[in-house]
Amino acid sequence: MTQKTCIITGASTGIGYALALKLAGQGYTLGLTARRLPLLEDLKKNILSRFPHAQIDIEVCDITNFEQTTMAINILAKKWGRLDLFIANAGIGYQTPAWEKNKKEVIAILNTNLMGTIFSIEVAKEIMLEQKSGHLVAISSVAAFRGLPTSSAYATSKAGLTTYTESLRMDLKKHGIMVTSIHPGYIATPMTEKNAIMPFLLTAEVAAKKISRAIQKQKPCYIFPWPMILAVTIMKLMPRFLFESLVTININGIFKEEKKL
Ligand SMILES: NC(=O)c1ccc[n+]([C@@H]2O[C@H](COP(=O)([O-])OP(=O)(O)OC[C@H]3O[C@@H](n4cnc5c(N)ncnc54)[C@H](OP(=O)(O)O)[C@@H]3O)[C@@H](O)[C@H]2O)c1
Repeated sequence: MTQKTCIITGASTGIGYALALKLAGQGYTLGLTARRLPLLEDLKKNILSRFPHAQIDIEVCDITNFEQTTMAINILAKKWGRLDLFIANAGIGYQTPAWEKNKKEVIAILNTNLMGTIFSIEVAKEIMLEQKSGHLVAISSVAAFRGLPTSSAYATSKAGLTTYTESLRMDLKKHGIMVTSIHPGYIATPMTEKNAIMPFLLTAEVAAKKISRAIQKQKPCYIFPWPMILAVTIMKLMPRFLFESLVTININGIFKEEKKL
């Protein structure tokens, strides 16, 4: 097999779906995974209608189920004989205001975005270590850089994922494996459809174009769109008292109304 191979988790909707279309157009052999088979089948049809020669495989997989995740990734990599690119994109996002009872939601977010995602990367990493090459990509968020009001679980999951990728990158550099963390701002997907306010909103298609370019360039870390780079830099530099005062200005207004991120 000469074409590059790529597995995308959470390919059934949103950023993962758009990335699959983008990478199929670039000639990747693709492994599409998520929990909802009919959506993955529709995506495959959509890809083949645009790129009739595309090689597309589907594996249903819930990333919080370690056995399923191990099987899905290994089945695809074995079938192809190698795994060049692994995109850990699957994720969930809800607000979990600390003044509410949110035990279940908090654990679901951490199980999916942190434990499940990291486990999936560990499985892909083992394959890449054996072949001594590959590129691991984690879809994190701009929410990774500081604690945010009403988003304790989501921000923690993305901060943890980002720290994990940073360590991985240093460890794997000499083993021929590149590691990238991607930090999108607001993207219009099912995850964000109920959000009221989304500054610098991008479509999933534009996001996929930007992400695929960052992957091609093997960027270690990619924050977009550019106003978010500025926002993150300022946020990181702000003293705690100023940051906490500013981001909680609307705590009884917009944040209370929204349930999803
Ligand atoms: N949209 C944004 O503004 C934004 C911004 C920054 C970062 N992100 C990140 O981008 C990634 C994609 O999000 P999105 O906006 O494209 O949301 P989305 O449209 O809701 O897509 C989420 C994807 O993850 C899959 N998924 C969820 N739980 C899963 C599980 N347990 N096992 C396997 N697959 C699972 C879903 O498929 P099934 O339900 O079929 O399994 C779906 O394909 C997420 O990691 C999100 O945190 C999004």
